Amino acid sequence: MLAGLDAEARRLASTTITDLIREDPARASDFALRCGGLYANFARQRYGRAALDALFAIGERAELMVAMRRLLDGALVNPTEGRAALHSALRGDNSTSQVAVEARAQAVAAQARMRVLIEQLEASDVTDIVSVGIGGSDLGPRLMVDALALHDARFKVHFISNVDGNAAQRVLAGLDPKRSAAIVISKTFGTQETLLNGGIVRAWLGNDERLYAVSTNAERVAAFGVPPERTLPMWDWVGGRYSLWSAVGFPIALALGMDRFLELLDGAAAMDAHAATAAPRGNIAVWHALTAVWNRNALHAATQAVLPYDDRLKLLPAYLQQLVMESLGKSVRIAGGAVDVDTVPVWWGGAGTDTQHSFFQALHQGTQIVPADFIGVLRADHPHAQNHAALLANLLAQTEALANGQDSDDPHRHYPGNRPSTLLLLDAVTPHAVGMLVALYEHSVYLQSVLWGINAFDQFGVELGKQVASRLLPALQGDAEADDAVTRALLREFSQRG
Ligand code: F6P
Repeated sequence: MLAGLDAEARRLASTTITDLIREDPARASDFALRCGGLYANFARQRYGRAALDALFAIGERAELMVAMRRLLDGALVNPTEGRAALHSALRGDNSTSQVAVEARAQAVAAQARMRVLIEQLEASDVTDIVSVGIGGSDLGPRLMVDALALHDARFKVHFISNVDGNAAQRVLAGLDPKRSAAIVISKTFGTQETLLNGGIVRAWLGNDERLYAVSTNAERVAAFGVPPERTLPMWDWVGGRYSLWSAVGFPIALALGMDRFLELLDGAAAMDAHAATAAPRGNIAVWHALTAVWNRNALHAATQAVLPYDDRLKLLPAYLQQLVMESLGKSVRIAGGAVDVDTVPVWWGGAGTDTQHSFFQALHQGTQIVPADFIGVLRADHPHAQNHAALLANLLAQTEALANGQDSDDPHRHYPGNRPSTLLLLDAVTPHAVGMLVALYEHSVYLQSVLWGINAFDQFGVELGKQVASRLLPALQGDAEADDAVTRALLREFSQRG
C-alpha cells in the first residue's frame, strides 16, 4: 500500500525543509488549508510536491474518501468487535444511511434528557459536580471543561479517575457533599477503577438522589444504585475514546451550559462534513493523515509531539495520547496478518511556552527527529496583550527555528534544523473551534488506520494487564500465590515493607 514512499524519501534525503521552501516559496500558501475557524499549514513538513503526489496517490489507492463515507454511514468499521463507530451521528446529520439516522435520533433524545437533568440541577443548591470515570470516560470531559468552562460557570466540575485513593481523597477533601452531585461514567460499568471510586463517592455523598450515571449497561447501573431517571445512555456504536460527544459529555454540558455543549458538537459536525466531502487536496484530515504516515514510514520518526500554545489546551496532549495510541497502537492488520510497516509513533507533548523550558532542547538538538503539531490561537480572551504577542512570537519562532536551524563553527551551538512541523491555528478557543480541532484528529486517526489496514476502534491490548491485575488482587491480599517468580518476590517485598 505504501509503495513509493521509500524512493521519495531517498530522493529527498539531502534536501532540507529550508531548501524545499527556498526552491518553492509558493508552498507557504499552497500547503495551507482552511475549514471555518481552523487553519492548517503543512509547508514546514519535509516533503516536496513529488512526494506529496506519491502520498495522495497512496490515499487514492486506499480509497480514503470511500472510507470516510463508510465511517459516517455506520458501516462495520470495527469488524473485530462487530460494530460501527458512529460518533459523527452524535453531533450532526452528515449521513442519510438508516443506521446513522437512527443513531442520530437516539443521540438527540439523550441530549433532550441531559438538558432536563441539567435544568433540575441548576434549580437545586448544588454547586459542585464530581465526575468519576477513566480513559475515554474521563479524558474528553476533563479536556473540554478545562479548556472551555467560563469563570462564572454555574457548576464547578471535578474529576476522579485514578484508582489511587489519593485521587478521590484530594478531590473530595475540598468539597461539601451537601452541595455536590456526582456522575459515574463508564461505557461498560465494569471498569475496576471507576467502580471503586464510584463506591467512595457514593458513600461520601450520603444522598443517592444526587448520584447520576452514564453507561450502556443499565442493569449494572441499577445494581450500583442509580435509577433509570438519573441514568443517561451510551451505545456500543460509540467507542470510549470517541464518546465525549455523547452523554459522556454530561460534565461538559454542566460546566459549559447545554447550549455551548451543542456548539462544541456543531464544530465537530462541521469537521465531519469537511472530512467527508472536501476533495483530498483540500481536505485537512487527509493531509494530516498522509503527513503522519509520511513521517512514520518515510522518515521513520518514532515519536510525534503535540504542542498547544494556549494554556487552555494544555490537556490536549493527554487526550490525544489515548485517542491516537489506543486507536493506532496495533501490529496486526484487520484481516489478521502482521502489518509490514511501523504504525503509531509515541505521542507526547505539552503546552508552550512552558515546554520550551523543559524538553525543547531535545527537539532542537537531540539525535531523534520529532515531528510536531504546533497549535496556536489568534484571539487572546484576556487583557494581557503583551503576553499574547510574546506567546505568538514564540510559537512562530519555534516552528521557524526547528525548520531552518542555524549554523555555527562551534558544534555545541549548531542547530541542525530540518525538523518538520505542522501549524494548526484556531481563530479562538470557542466550543465550535475546539470541536473542529478534536474531530480533525479523530478523522486523521481513522484515515491513518485505513492507510495501515488496521482497526482503529478496538483496544484488546489493554485487556491483558487488567486480567493479570484481577488475578493478582487475591495474591496481594495474602489469599493466593502468584504464578510468576518475579511477582512472588515483589509481593514478599510489599508484605515486608508495606
Ligand atoms: O483503557 C481501556 C478502556 O476500555 C478505554 O478504551 C475506555 O475508554 C476506558 O477503558 C474506560 O472504559 P469504561 O468507559 O467502560 O469504564
